[in-house]
Amino acid sequence: MTAHGEGGCEIWAIGGGKGGIGKSFLISCLGTALAGRGKRVVLVDADLGGANLHSLLGIGRPKASLTSFFEKKVPLAELVVATGIDHLGLLTGAIGSLDPDHIKYTQKLKFFGQIKKLDAEYVLIDLGAGTHFNTIDTFLLADRLLVVTVPEITAIENLYFFLKNTFFRKLVHACTEQGLKELLRKAWLDRRRHNIQNFIEFLAHLRGLSPRLERLIEEQLDTFTIQIVLNQVKLRQDIVIGHSIRSVCKKYYGLSSRYAGYVEHDDLVPRCINNRQSFMQAYPASRSAGQIELVADNVLTGGEVSL
Ligand SMILES: Nc1ncnc2c1ncn2[C@@H]1O[C@H](COP(=O)(O)OP(=O)(O)O)[C@@H](O)[C@H]1O
Ligand SMILES: [Mg+2]
Repeated sequence: MTAHGEGGCEIWAIGGGKGGIGKSFLISCLGTALAGRGKRVVLVDADLGGANLHSLLGIGRPKASLTSFFEKKVPLAELVVATGIDHLGLLTGAIGSLDPDHIKYTQKLKFFGQIKKLDAEYVLIDLGAGTHFNTIDTFLLADRLLVVTVPEITAIENLYFFLKNTFFRKLVHACTEQGLKELLRKAWLDRRRHNIQNFIEFLAHLRGLSPRLERLIEEQLDTFTIQIVLNQVKLRQDIVIGHSIRSVCKKYYGLSSRYAGYVEHDDLVPRCINNRQSFMQAYPASRSAGQIELVADNVLTGGEVSL
């Protein structure tokens, strides 16, 4: 299975509705894991509100950051800094001065265009929490769509919300390109009149509106495969939650997903972060590092946790 962006790099993005669930931790570890296999990797910290990937790699905040791209028009490629880890570069986010709401549409397209052309085999993007359309659009840029949750109901509910919004946004983009946006908008406004109760009923309703729209929905569903990672697992019985999430995604949202893996809660993680160490480098033989390597394998091959 291969998926490569325009510049020849494969883009992975990691999202999930909630903050504090391990998105940045996992993306930094997955990047380190790929780099450890000799791949050229660039991590992009696109959490514009709270960029902290550098800390998870054990380095100080780089001077070069996305602020220079958005405010001084410096090309992205010039802002990639070395991390001290072989083959791993970092494009750091911006704290404070940059308000995601004030990023112009043209700047955003330029940002996306330059990400795809970065000189790397893998570009891994970390996202902020929430479902701001800038976050979702950045997520949708990726060839591999990774989502993280922890085994807690609030995080899982946020994940469903994130996925539903993300797929809907993908559909809106596709409908806009195909001149079907008005049909979609009208159907959305009319949904209560048609007694539509949930997302899957809405999709079924849309399919019945026009054969073109039906085809478009199928295409968009086929190209939206998410890979689920369950983080901070504490109990053995929590492992199956990944399979349940996969079933719910299909049954209630019509969305295909794969359960790419789980990572247990490990007290060494916060300790490492506080000591400014990269977890994968400090504890490569730990069980959780092994689980992260398995997640990397499964994301690369489309493999899954077996039932
Ligand atoms: N597998 C884990 N085991 C123990 N602690 C973890 C694990 N994953 C994440 N954490 C803790 O959770 C905190 C938040 O993780 P982070 O990656 O910053 O979340 P997010 O990017 O989703 O906001 C980290 O600072 C770390 O201490
Ligand atoms: Mg984060």
